[in-house]
Amino acid sequence: MRIAVTGGAGYIGSHTCTLLLAAGHDVLIIDNFNNSKSDVLDRIEKVAGVRPRINQTDITQADALSAVFSDYRPDAVLHFAGLKAVGEAVENPLEYYRVNVGGSVSLFQAMENVGCNKIVFSSSATVYGDPDQVPIVENHPLRPTNPYGQSKRYVEKILEDWGQANSNLAAVNLRYFNPFGAHPTALLGENPQGIPNNLMPYVAQVATGQAAELLVFGDDYDTPDGTGVRDYIHVMDLAAAHLKALDLTVRKAGVKAINVGTGNGYSVMQMINAFKRASNREIPYRVVDRRPGDIAECVADPSFAFELLGWKSELGLERMCADAWSYQNSLK
Ligand code: NAD
Ligand code: UD1
Repeated sequence: MRIAVTGGAGYIGSHTCTLLLAAGHDVLIIDNFNNSKSDVLDRIEKVAGVRPRINQTDITQADALSAVFSDYRPDAVLHFAGLKAVGEAVENPLEYYRVNVGGSVSLFQAMENVGCNKIVFSSSATVYGDPDQVPIVENHPLRPTNPYGQSKRYVEKILEDWGQANSNLAAVNLRYFNPFGAHPTALLGENPQGIPNNLMPYVAQVATGQAAELLVFGDDYDTPDGTGVRDYIHVMDLAAAHLKALDLTVRKAGVKAINVGTGNGYSVMQMINAFKRASNREIPYRVVDRRPGDIAECVADPSFAFELLGWKSELGLERMCADAWSYQNSLK
């Protein structure tokens, strides 16, 4: 298939592109390199043995995007492009809605113009907000607590409405839990600019000594050791879920939302200890107040993904930490 991959130069997109290319698909990455670098193309090529096509277009530029689609005529789209920092979204909601929602609408319009009606969208478990119960099932109420989460909810809704109007539309909203890890070759991984927002990239920097200590945001949650519990999923497992979701769009029209997690929750303390083992380094930490807006526990019920896609996670915590540590070392 001819697959347009928005945000394909980013963390999750780049790993997914290696699998698409290895499976024989023709891949066009559409990315403005806002949060990635063009050398990722060489790395994808090294891993997959095939170089993806690239078009450096901003998805909010509707006319330019439509021109790319008229020219490439994709069979399907994987839509990763967007902004993802929660704090930044709270400070600048309009920019988040412009890029994440406005950019998605431009994309859907460009698809409709060329009769492309298969799409897999990068949604997030953040659409659930503070869950009533864990593990979370897909029909749990959606009540995101910040503009980033809202932007994901709006895009899911726009796809639902488009699906009502166009019975040929096949759309899969993949609700990612907490992606972590790197490509086993250490050629691809997550390398956030500046101070990382998320736990594990920060832990990795503490292990190398780039950061002095980890601040643990609260140890008084109603969890086994008092620290926050999350469902960490290996980025390669997550990438594999996209190929299965793509298969579903080929088999079946309709709009679906699917959790992509492992079903296993780990606390901040468990994650620190797992990374300590993988890196054989000390991870100094200090417990501080809770981070505003944080929740105690967020864990997927992944059974719908298995039922619908035949997908389940295969790589465990040790492997996530080992791959992330190899990648971190490769950055030196
Ligand atoms: P990332 O920042 O590494 O990748 C996003 C890519 O999109 C980058 O290459 C960036 O340059 C590109 N991009 C951003 N704005 C663009 C625009 N206007 N036009 C074209 N390209 C643009 O992020 P990621 O971690 O790979 O996340 C991919 C998607 O998954 C995002 O939509 C994100 O919200 C979602 N998601 C991520 C996580 C996570 O923890 N990483 C969790 C849930 C959902
Ligand atoms: C964050 C985002 C969420 C996004 C998810 C996956 C916020 C508020 N939410 O959630 O929208 O979908 O990532 O990318 O940013 N922690 C520390 N010290 C740190 C960093 C984190 O103790 O320096 C703790 C947190 O309190 C939490 C856990 O580690 O308990 C995981 O945090 P993080 O990696 O930021 O992910 P989420 O909070 O799940």
